[in-house]
Amino acid sequence: MPHFLDIHSTDPADLRTIIDSAAAMKTARDGRPRGTPDDDRPLAGRMVALIFEKPSTRTRISFDVGVRQMGGETMVLSGTDMQLGHGETIADTARVISRYVDAIMIRTFEEATLLEMAEFADVPVINGLTNRSHPCQIMADVMTYEEHRGPIRGAKVVWSGDGNNVFASFAHAAQAFDFDLTFTGPETLDPEPALDGLYRTVRDPMQAVEGADLVVTDTWVSMHDPQSARERRHNQLRGYQVNAELMARAKPDALFMHCLPAHRDDEATSEVMDGPHSVIFDEAENRLHAQKAILRHCLGV
Ligand code: CP
Ligand code: NVA
Repeated sequence: MPHFLDIHSTDPADLRTIIDSAAAMKTARDGRPRGTPDDDRPLAGRMVALIFEKPSTRTRISFDVGVRQMGGETMVLSGTDMQLGHGETIADTARVISRYVDAIMIRTFEEATLLEMAEFADVPVINGLTNRSHPCQIMADVMTYEEHRGPIRGAKVVWSGDGNNVFASFAHAAQAFDFDLTFTGPETLDPEPALDGLYRTVRDPMQAVEGADLVVTDTWVSMHDPQSARERRHNQLRGYQVNAELMARAKPDALFMHCLPAHRDDEATSEVMDGPHSVIFDEAENRLHAQKAILRHCLGV
């Protein structure tokens, strides 16, 4: 079953096809009103379930719009509305949902939930973020980089901040797309050991971003982190803020990305977010195009 569970569980050749197909679909829609369907409607007659156990703006809207542009229909479900939150097993839920829909996108907490859903579903399952990874985001990020700067292969990418789920997908992508990834952040918030070998660590942020083609950050407190950790994390991460001084150490034409939502003037200053290096809104838009290509890949259409 061609699920899309993670960057590293997808064949690199398929990842490349997905990026190229996303770019082609974006070009084909150039200048069209968002609400109009594509000329080609490969999802006609198909139903996609979008399940959210955590909040979402971009993932929810971009998947919903993307499916509709391709002629399909969606059903947006929150975990708490379903029996999922009331004791029915993930395995039974997956088997039941598979009798109604053609594909499932799920945003959840534990990776185990995603994997169990994929194991027992008879239809493709797509990872819309777990505590451990966010592969759809990084497909959009690779697409965005290449749209602005050409092939990402060999580029120097620097992540400043928390070694979180979005970083994990960047690390998987560094291997799949063959770019160079540096992590800069406090030791206490290092990426999980499973990612060792996919990136290098430079503790001093000023030194880390030297010569970077792309600087990336994310929120200092993720949805799965306890709010009680907020102050401690802010204290640990303050020195890793992406600001004009830090960006000045990167290449003059370096790009800045953030998956959003951002806490302006915490992990990145508004000056950088709204400045000449920033491509954050192209990045958000490209979620739509990248996910349409992921759906086509999973459904073989
Ligand atoms: N970047 C991202 O996944 O945003 P949402 O949480 O709004 O979906
Ligand atoms: N790291 C963030 C990403 C949100 C899109 C989180 O998991 O909350």
